[in-house]
Amino acid sequence: MRPIIPDYLAEALRDVESDTSGDPAGYIPELATADTERLGAAFAMIDGEVYGAGDIDIEFTIQSISKPFIYALALSDRGFDPVLAKVGVEPSGEAFNEISLESDTGRPLNPMINAGAITVHSLAGAEDLNPTERVERVLHGLSAFAGRRLKMDEAVCASEMEHAHRNLAIAHMLRSHNVLTKDPRAVVDGYTRQCSVLVTTRDLAMMAATLANRGINPLSGEQVVPEPVARQVLSVMFSCGMYDAAGDWATQVGIPAKSGVAGGLIGALPGQIGIGTFSPRLDSHGNSVRGVSLFERFSSDMGLHVM
Ligand code: DON
Repeated sequence: MRPIIPDYLAEALRDVESDTSGDPAGYIPELATADTERLGAAFAMIDGEVYGAGDIDIEFTIQSISKPFIYALALSDRGFDPVLAKVGVEPSGEAFNEISLESDTGRPLNPMINAGAITVHSLAGAEDLNPTERVERVLHGLSAFAGRRLKMDEAVCASEMEHAHRNLAIAHMLRSHNVLTKDPRAVVDGYTRQCSVLVTTRDLAMMAATLANRGINPLSGEQVVPEPVARQVLSVMFSCGMYDAAGDWATQVGIPAKSGVAGGLIGALPGQIGIGTFSPRLDSHGNSVRGVSLFERFSSDMGLHVM
């Protein structure tokens, strides 16, 4: 069985290669210059075996795919109740960068949209950490999910910070509702650093496999987050991970997932597999065009839909 998987993956990549629709993210100048032909896919099984094809060892920034993992860290560092008091678990039905706050409380609807993720960043690690220590907690946590020490792309981070007016506006709104209790600029700076962490497609598959494996990294054996946290994160990925395309995704693909504007995409099937794909051209929701096609194919070929 084993040799078949890389051939299967290579064939799946060949089938989506001709689709050149979509564009790389334009609002972060460093991402707009990405090599749009990059394409990779990797499967990480929960026994630690990794299969891949294409550009699986090329680094790119994690962007919004960091959100479920930092949500996991916040839940394990602070406990469920304090995090749920600040960020809900309801799909917003809106784009990732909409304000999407509950009108009475100012609570962001979920942790996968920017408003929720900016709040969640401020909840990673102990309350009294300074901004640099919080970023270190985030980087350390993401590295534990990947099973190797990750680093940041300073150029992408600086490029996004120069144009971060929308995230800064959201953070100031959150501060005005006392959902954020820290300095909004420092939190957006930390959140932007979190989004600038460099990963490969292989890393993404292993990080997803850690969620699929009840919070235990299949290679290192480390319990990165407790099992109930992994279940909570996968549940929110299922309902909210693909933003305003979440309903289409849940019905057509049926795998808890999360996308990032650099072109990465992850899916995690509890007790089975973590999947990572990479292709920088995005659709109108900010999801990778070829990544979505690959997941549709994987789901139907291998019967991965959870229903
Ligand atoms: O905050 C932002 O806008 C980016 N750093 C991340 C957005 C993102 O990846 C949306 N996902 N597809």
